[in-house]
Amino acid sequence: MRPRDLSTHTAYEAGRGAEEVARELGLDRVELVKLSSNENPHGPSPRASEAIRAVADAVHTYPKSSHTDLLKALAERWGVAPNQVWLANGGDGALDYLSRALLDPGEEVLVSRPGFAYYAMSARYHHGRVKQYRLRKSEDFAQTAAGVLEAYDGERIVYLTSPHNPTGSEIPLDDVLEIAEETDESTLVLVDEAYGEFTAAPSAAGLIEGQSGSGDEDEGESDRREKGTIGDGENVPTAEREDVAVLRTFSKAYGLAGLRLGYAITPASWAGAYARVNTPFAASEVACRAGLAALSDAEHVEHTVSSARWAREYMHEHIDAPTYESGGNFVLCEVGDAPNVVASLQESGIIVRDCSSFGLPECIRITCGTHEETHRAVETLDDLLEKW
Ligand SMILES: Cc1ncc(COP(=O)(O)O)c(C=O)c1O
Repeated sequence: MRPRDLSTHTAYEAGRGAEEVARELGLDRVELVKLSSNENPHGPSPRASEAIRAVADAVHTYPKSSHTDLLKALAERWGVAPNQVWLANGGDGALDYLSRALLDPGEEVLVSRPGFAYYAMSARYHHGRVKQYRLRKSEDFAQTAAGVLEAYDGERIVYLTSPHNPTGSEIPLDDVLEIAEETDESTLVLVDEAYGEFTAAPSAAGLIEGQSGSGDEDEGESDRREKGTIGDGENVPTAEREDVAVLRTFSKAYGLAGLRLGYAITPASWAGAYARVNTPFAASEVACRAGLAALSDAEHVEHTVSSARWAREYMHEHIDAPTYESGGNFVLCEVGDAPNVVASLQESGIIVRDCSSFGLPECIRITCGTHEETHRAVETLDDLLEKW
């Protein structure tokens, strides 16, 4: 007896863990600066930590009301109905639910190269096939409707990532809209906004059918607009599209990567599909309670976002190698021989992401750290590049 033929599947290569590297190098964990997985260097919201502690003695029950409460809170935030929110075990889990709900065996999806590996993995797990569109370094990895549509050939799902991992590039909403308009009615345009909080650009959620634009998100956004953390909202297209969905996560700006909590915002007319594809109790009691608490802590997100913006600017200005504009909490940097640079940095206690697995063996991706971590990483990298 064997598993089915998995030869076209590839294993996900995560950024290296600090514990793992510390053990390998015989160092203490605290001596390492881990900037390889786009995590939040400031940790979770203190309110989320408190909620996790508070729920510890209640995890013998299935998550029922907490799941309902979190759906409600997210629905209010985005101005959609609760059944438009597909809560899952991380954004990755939401990608799986979308694959389950959309893909018939043998159907194709269109993903970017370079790009986030799990789109293709999820499609293959669900008996789908994968095609790619290119983002070109010579064009600073620009994402455009023309570039995507040139490669498009009736695929069932087109994945867009904005801000894009690992390049940091963004796709304007007008281009998202054009892609939705120009592709078949049966094609879903999925906009992955895992790093959405870090950009000044508006969310593609406004394009989704059933989004009233009257949720808390508007209040939140107007606050953020005042603080200059999102765009001014003028000329933001809205639409009632039943072929656009958005992915968001608590792993990045909310600092809850270890909890595994994410969700998709889907069109109103898909109502009922989630209930037919999700795992019973799709997010844990701990995750739901922590998610609710984190949502209420705007200060933590603001601090995280402004710190990331500082760090990415600092990296652009001070790294003695080409870097790319980034809307996320990381910067792509062209260093030549990424595997060797990563190995040398690691010996100095700095862990960053080698982008070879993204098809960019000359690039590394550095997550925005705290001020101290970012200074140390940049200084160590520059010293290394000087000797190289
Ligand atoms: C572009 C993108 N989408 C989705 C995810 C999934 O994140 P999670 O499953 O932790 O929510 C990640 C994680 O790094 C990502 O980079």
